[in-house]
Amino acid sequence: MLILGIETSCDDTAAAVVKDGRTVLSSVTSSQDQFHKKYGGVVPEIASRKHLETINLVIQEALEKAGHVFKEIDAIAVTQGPGLVGSLLIGIMTAKALAYVYKKPLIAVNHLEGHIYSCLLGRKNLKPPFLSLIISGGHSDLVYVRAYGVYEMLGRTRDDAVGETYDKVAKILGLGYPGGPVIDRLARDGNTEAVKFPKAKMKDNSLDFSFSGVKTAVINHIRNTGSKNSAGKQSREKAGSLLFKHLDKKTMLDIIASFQKTVVETLLDNTMIAAKKMRAKTVTVCGGVSANSYLRKKFTGAFNAEGTKLYFPEMEYCTDNAAMIACAGYYSPVRKKLKPISPIAPLANMEL
Ligand code: KG4
Ligand code: ZN
Repeated sequence: MLILGIETSCDDTAAAVVKDGRTVLSSVTSSQDQFHKKYGGVVPEIASRKHLETINLVIQEALEKAGHVFKEIDAIAVTQGPGLVGSLLIGIMTAKALAYVYKKPLIAVNHLEGHIYSCLLGRKNLKPPFLSLIISGGHSDLVYVRAYGVYEMLGRTRDDAVGETYDKVAKILGLGYPGGPVIDRLARDGNTEAVKFPKAKMKDNSLDFSFSGVKTAVINHIRNTGSKNSAGKQSREKAGSLLFKHLDKKTMLDIIASFQKTVVETLLDNTMIAAKKMRAKTVTVCGGVSANSYLRKKFTGAFNAEGTKLYFPEMEYCTDNAAMIACAGYYSPVRKKLKPISPIAPLANMEL
């Protein structure tokens, strides 16, 4: 079965052709980072306009790379939500039009389901049940996947998502957007023990996360260090971001490394508790932040010691892509043949 996946929930325009759910024949992503960079985050209006400009080209390229033509495709899977409504709309309308013209079944996919299934791509033996930690720019969720399409939400973030926290800290330090990959790279040269940032713990023993506290602690620490270091030098405000230029490089690297350690330990603590609670033999970590090298090392060490199987997606399927959407479409228990003219509307908030 050949599925064409289409993903436009945020700022990546993506299309992919996947065979029998797991074999990726092509995966094309057109990143909009260069257009959002100067604003320090995604500008929804720009995102939807860029999707509109590139979506047809991206789909065409995905088909060409896969060596298939439209009539050989068996179904189209498209992200319905959660995400930016204007962005989702472009993918959904394109998918509907193609499904209508070529008379193909249309499958609506939840973006988070896509991230969960990204770990299955290229792997034959990974099957539910497993515990999944979804860490991206918009989500920090702990989900127990009982069976294909059967999910139990164990914990979620109460404020900022992990990726969002990385992006905000990077913005404060003037490191550019997206902040995760830059912090990942720079933190390797910093001292993780230099600063003790607080780890948020929920009072009610819940497995929820909170990252706004560590973000504020980082800002306060920079301010205090700044006033000590810079002897009256002013922090400058530019394009909405505070540039703490007065910090020397070592201080900055130490702050980043300590921040990252705190965040990763918080994620690891809750995932460990959840794995024990659910007696999970297999754990998966997915979403943009699962590309993080420090996190991969820490999780691998901890779960190896427990004898628990741990899976990350291949690097190219950590951040948003359409192969994961095609895979989720394949396994979707609904695998519903939605009619192209049916009212599949974009959903900014969509529960698993
Ligand atoms: O999954 P994704 O592409 O989009 C959402 O669904 O949100 O995740 C994007 C997020 C961004 O916040 C980005 O900074 C973060 O993933 N990210 C990383 C790394 N690569 C991407 N965070 C930490 N380390 C990385 N290597
Ligand atoms: Zn995502």
